[in-house]
Amino acid sequence: MTGSVTLVEVGPRDGLQACKHPIATAARIGLIERLRKAGVKRMEVGSFVSPKHVPRMADTGEVMDAVGSRAEPGDMVLIANARGLEQVIAHGARTIAVFTAASDAFAQKNIGCTIAASLERFAPLVETARAAGVAVRGYISTITDCPYSGEVAPEAVVPVARSLMEMGCGEISLGETLGRATPCRIAAVIEAVAAHVPIEALAAHFHDTYGMGVANVWEAVRLGVRTVDAAVGGLGGCPFAPGATGNVASEDIVYLLHGQGIETGIDLDGLLDAAAYCGDTMGIAPVSRVFKARRG
Ligand code: HMG
Ligand code: MG
Repeated sequence: MTGSVTLVEVGPRDGLQACKHPIATAARIGLIERLRKAGVKRMEVGSFVSPKHVPRMADTGEVMDAVGSRAEPGDMVLIANARGLEQVIAHGARTIAVFTAASDAFAQKNIGCTIAASLERFAPLVETARAAGVAVRGYISTITDCPYSGEVAPEAVVPVARSLMEMGCGEISLGETLGRATPCRIAAVIEAVAAHVPIEALAAHFHDTYGMGVANVWEAVRLGVRTVDAAVGGLGGCPFAPGATGNVASEDIVYLLHGQGIETGIDLDGLLDAAAYCGDTMGIAPVSRVFKARRG
C-alpha cells in the first residue's frame, strides 16, 4: 500500500489523564516539545474538564500557553461543557474535541449524562466554536464494548456519528475504549459508519488492552481510514473505563505504517526519545513492543 496517514498523538492528554501520581507541568511541556521535534503535526495537548474528575489535566491552560498552541492549528484540546469552551477559547485553541459515547452507561459515568443529553449540550458549543474559527472533532467512545453494559452493536454508533457530523464536527474519532475488539468487529463499525459519514472524516482511536491495537489500526487503514490516534509509549487510559490500558503506541503504529510503505512524516527515533523521556521524567515506563525492541 502507498500514500500517507496522519497520526494524531494523544499521549499528552489520553496518555497522562489517568496517571496515578502528579506530573510536573514542565514535564508535560517537555513531552509535547519532544513530540513536535519528532515531526508530530497533530496532537491532543490536554483537556478542560472538571479537575475533580480528572486532576491531571488541571494545568492544561499553562501547558497550551507554554507550547504555543495559539499558533498551532494541529493542537487539540478536549472539552465537556460551556465552561471548558470558554477556557479553551481564552487560551487560543484552534481545534477542540467534544466527546460522547455509543453507550448510555459509559456516557453517564464519563460526562454525567445520556448520549442524547450530551449531543444537546454539545450542539451550541460546536456552533460557538465554529463561529470563532475553531475546528471541532467529535469522539465516540465504546464503539464495540462498554465496561458497564457489555457489547455495543455497530448500529448504535451510526446515529451518534451522524448527529456529531450534522452539528458541525469536521472529524469523528471512533474510540475502542476498552481495547478488547478484534479486526472483524472494528471493520463492522467502520463499514456501518462509513455508509453515512465520509470515510475521510473518520479517525481510529484504539486502546490496546488485549494487544489488538496494531491489528485493528491496520484493518481501519485497509478500509480507507487515514487518521489514526495513538499515544507515545502506549501510555494512558480513561479513568472511567476500568480494566482498560493505554492507547495503541505511536511508535508501534509508525513502525507498522512505514513498513507497509505508508508515510507519516514522523521520525521513529524521535518518538522513541519522547517515550524514553516519559520514563525518565514522569516515571511512566513505555510499554510498546517497538520501544522494548529498540531501547529496552
Ligand atoms: P458534574 O459533576 O456532573 O457537573 O460533571 P458539575 O457541573 O457539577 O461539575 C462538577 C465540578 O467540576 C464543579 O465544581 C464544577 O465547577 C467543576 P464544584 O462546584 O463541585 O467545586 N467543573 C469544572 N471545573 C473546571 N473546568 C471545567 C469544569 N466543569 C465542571 N470545564 C462534567 C460533569 C462533564 C464536568 C464531568 O463529568 C467531567 O469533567 N467529565 C470529563 C471526564 C473526562 O475528562 N474523561 C476522560 C476523557 S474521555 C476519554 O478518555 C475517551 C476518549 O479517549 C475516547 C476513547 O478512548 O473512547 C476521548
Ligand atoms: Mg481514549
